[in-house]
Amino acid sequence: MTTNVLLIGSGGREHALAWKLAQSPALGRLYAAPGNPGIAAHADLAALDIDDHAAVVAFAKANAIGLVVVGPEAPLVAGITDGLRQAGILVFGPSRLAAQLEGSKGFTKDLCMRKAIPTGRYRRFTEPEAAKDYVRAEGAPIVVKADGLAAGKGVTVAESVENALAAIDDCFDGGGEVVVEEFLEGEEASLFCLADGMNAVFFGTAQDHKRAFDGDKGPNTGGMGAYSPAPAMTPDLIERAMTEIIRPTLEGMREVGAPFAGVLYAGLMLTEKGPQLIEYNARFGDPETQVLMLRLKSDLLPILLDAARGDLSACRPEWYEDPALCVVMATSGYPGAYHKGSVIRALPETDEQAIVFHAGTRRDGDRLLAEGGRVLGVTASGTTVGEAAVKAYAAIAEIDWPEGFVRTDIGHRAIAREES
Ligand code: AMP
Ligand code: GLY
Repeated sequence: MTTNVLLIGSGGREHALAWKLAQSPALGRLYAAPGNPGIAAHADLAALDIDDHAAVVAFAKANAIGLVVVGPEAPLVAGITDGLRQAGILVFGPSRLAAQLEGSKGFTKDLCMRKAIPTGRYRRFTEPEAAKDYVRAEGAPIVVKADGLAAGKGVTVAESVENALAAIDDCFDGGGEVVVEEFLEGEEASLFCLADGMNAVFFGTAQDHKRAFDGDKGPNTGGMGAYSPAPAMTPDLIERAMTEIIRPTLEGMREVGAPFAGVLYAGLMLTEKGPQLIEYNARFGDPETQVLMLRLKSDLLPILLDAARGDLSACRPEWYEDPALCVVMATSGYPGAYHKGSVIRALPETDEQAIVFHAGTRRDGDRLLAEGGRVLGVTASGTTVGEAAVKAYAAIAEIDWPEGFVRTDIGHRAIAREES
């Protein structure tokens, strides 16, 4: 028996998921909404408004969909999975309530407090003056975070009290809530788990590159590149993170009546005291998924089906030994304003050296156009991160897209370790 799958989303993460799902002998038909030109190589693009949850349920029923896989956070926080579950359709992704782990920083911090999960000290504020008094009392460096989804742009790591006060004004521009948090020092790493409400299955580590430019300079972005595994995450640190952070989180979510099923993506700071939680995402990372999918040896489809059915107890994902690395090609100007519609030429024709995952692309006749900020994710594996980087950058050198830019130092931390 094969399973028809509907994949929700249109980014590089979803192209990587589609690429991997398409290799499954258990896959029937793959549909994607809205999808992108890269995904179209593996899936039928469905003309479906993903904000119209009733329409998504109707589409799933009409096309005998056996599993819906939700990529991005926005539909999860909007509750796309709730209607599907009510209609008896298997869906991979947390409920609206459980997606608060990503959707509300205050909710997550309160859960950490209740379950004694290691994380920075914090306070929540609904009044700017009270937040400012707290910042003046605590001093800098200090971190100011807007509550709610902000596409990676709602966080200010303030070096001075003045910067923190300005960030508080920015956050309250238009109301809302802020979390003011202790500054944590260390190396950052991401840990991925699949959860079925009860069990958590370790699903790899990665390191992202959040800043726009080389040397970790410039504004924060959605992520300019990633590699997996994260060498800083030793087996001992992984075990500690699972025991001290992930499992208590799942327990805490059950206690508040919002069991978490889906991807639990923990942004960790590896401090002197051990791993501390910076934030949760309730979905796969982008571009971390591009590297995880290259490394995953097991068939993805049965794993996602087991998670959606609520039984990951027998799930033991297998991985290739080789690390993988992804370099994001973005449109000049990103993450600020940028032009749409520049032409991309000379994409590599085979996947031999590197796989080019599409993110913000659009097909216009036989031309491929850049439509978004992050446009392509050039992904390769190698016996070392350094070798994977050489392959990815060699593939990038072939791509003819003058309006695009890349960071030239993706993987620098891991490569420095390899060379030392
Ligand atoms: P977030 O959107 O919560 O991932 O925050 C974006 C980035 O801000 C993180 O990747 C960290 O680099 C930084 N950050 C967030 N919280 C803290 C913290 N408490 N201490 C130090 N850096 C932080
Ligand atoms: N690359 C960071 C994220 O997916 O949130």
